[in-house]
Amino acid sequence: MPLHRLTKLTVAVPDVAGSTDFYRDFGLDHLGAGRFATADGGEQLELVARPRRGLVELGLGCDDPDDLDRIAANLTGADHAFQRTPEAVVTTDEGSGVRVRVTISPRYDQTPPDEPRVNAPGADRRRDERAPGSMRAGQVRPRRLGHVVVGSVDTARSEHLFIDLLGFQVSDTVRHVGKFVRCSTDHHNLMVAAAPARFLHHTSWQVDDVDEVGRGAAHMVTQDRTRHVWGLGRHNVGGNFFWYLRDPAGNFAEYYSDLDIITERLRWDALEWRGRSSQCAWAPPPPRDFHLPDDVAELMMRGEG
Ligand SMILES: [Fe+2]
Repeated sequence: MPLHRLTKLTVAVPDVAGSTDFYRDFGLDHLGAGRFATADGGEQLELVARPRRGLVELGLGCDDPDDLDRIAANLTGADHAFQRTPEAVVTTDEGSGVRVRVTISPRYDQTPPDEPRVNAPGADRRRDERAPGSMRAGQVRPRRLGHVVVGSVDTARSEHLFIDLLGFQVSDTVRHVGKFVRCSTDHHNLMVAAAPARFLHHTSWQVDDVDEVGRGAAHMVTQDRTRHVWGLGRHNVGGNFFWYLRDPAGNFAEYYSDLDIITERLRWDALEWRGRSSQCAWAPPPPRDFHLPDDVAELMMRGEG
């Protein structure tokens, strides 16, 4: 496929200063003016002031100008409006209201963390040594942006753009909700969920391991208890450990580790999950408004979806 990664998100918040504190505490590197970098991905988040929260732009990376030409040809063939510049193809998903910007971007080259030595019954791999996860200090630093989940009022339209025209591949489907799709070897980089209103559900950020998920979230919640949304848990769709937090605007941000990786499409058994069974393998109960946050329900009631 022409694409190989997410590059950068532009997220709308009513109060950039307040949300800047949140993402700084989250461990992103503040570059100034609401722009943030990850350890391995460079600039990957920009906050912009808007009355209503949401995802303004989704950045996708491809290898070379030929990839941009291929995507432009697909969009032309489907009569899907777009702009082409020497550096980018820009189009819009009407279902989610998200602008999509495809640019030429370097692929990730990540240095793995030290191999974990985990003790288990009958397998004392770590001997005469304290657990490294118990000894870590310093702030958690997300390695890179992993995925984003948005609500769409027309999932067929969204899926047509992302799957048929941009080349995302389906990893798993949740019946009556939507498809988890990837543009890299990550199990998912995007989920467009059927919703009564267009909204940003969550952004998700990769950390080294479950200790970093827990350390990061513990730090966030210690600063402000109202940030806690749902965690610690392990999803079954994607397989990752997770902990979700809420930024001051109401957008969720997830720390994740140990996501399933798909390198050979034919060896991956894509499943259709149903209802609650797809939510997680284990976790505390999610909050009542996890899937449709209250502010989105209010927008819907006001007919502003
Ligand atoms: Fe997620």
